[in-house]
Amino acid sequence: TVAIDGYSSSGKSTMARRLAGATGYRYIDSGAMYRAVTLYALDHGMISATGEVDAEALAAALPSIRIDFAPATEAGGQQHTLLNGTDVETEIRRLRVSNAVSPVAAIPAVRRALTEIQQAMGREGGIVMDGRDIGTTVFPHAELKIFVNASAETRARRRFKEMMETGAQVSYEDVLANVVRRDHIDETRAESPLRKADDALELDNSTMTLAEQDAWLMEQFEKRVQA
Ligand code: DC
Repeated sequence: TVAIDGYSSSGKSTMARRLAGATGYRYIDSGAMYRAVTLYALDHGMISATGEVDAEALAAALPSIRIDFAPATEAGGQQHTLLNGTDVETEIRRLRVSNAVSPVAAIPAVRRALTEIQQAMGREGGIVMDGRDIGTTVFPHAELKIFVNASAETRARRRFKEMMETGAQVSYEDVLANVVRRDHIDETRAESPLRKADDALELDNSTMTLAEQDAWLMEQFEKRVQA
């Protein structure tokens, strides 16, 4: 079991996806699950215009929210998140969802439900999961734990570039503000806050190339998982 945690847009998912591709492990993006629940809440009127979440209504609806992952259709491609059978991969990456997800992810009932599903997915091992609390809460006994970091500006630049490539109409300032706001909510929530597990390896990839990052990852994987 490999747990990769870190701040938003730190490159966790790229890292997790590439490691899974290189090792044949299954990749699970736990953030996509929080995003899918947020999309459900938005579409069912459970989030007010000011961003207030009706936590009780959402907790009651959890049993009727099913999240699955469809494998990528092309080699090395992105897997797709399904919400009650509908492909919502593009929709959950929009700023509408990014702006609403942190308060949803702070609701204890949501965290408990998603943690249970994630633990069930990892029961057999052979999994790389990325998120915020994978090394601390979901898989505290993972063989390899990595905590990824990069400055808020570096992360906002990456997210902005990604969003521009998908044709989104956003400003860099809005993206940076969203990154900073989410960091704060994720770090200060009462249940499973974003925190480096004591036994996680810390990686700041601000100035690393993808090739350097891949080499570092494989070295850690061979040392801790294959040894
Ligand atoms: O990694 P991401 O940006 O797609 O995550 C979306 C949100 O979900 C983020 O604000 C924090 C939350 N999250 C969480 O609380 N726990 C996880 N394991 C993964 C994501």
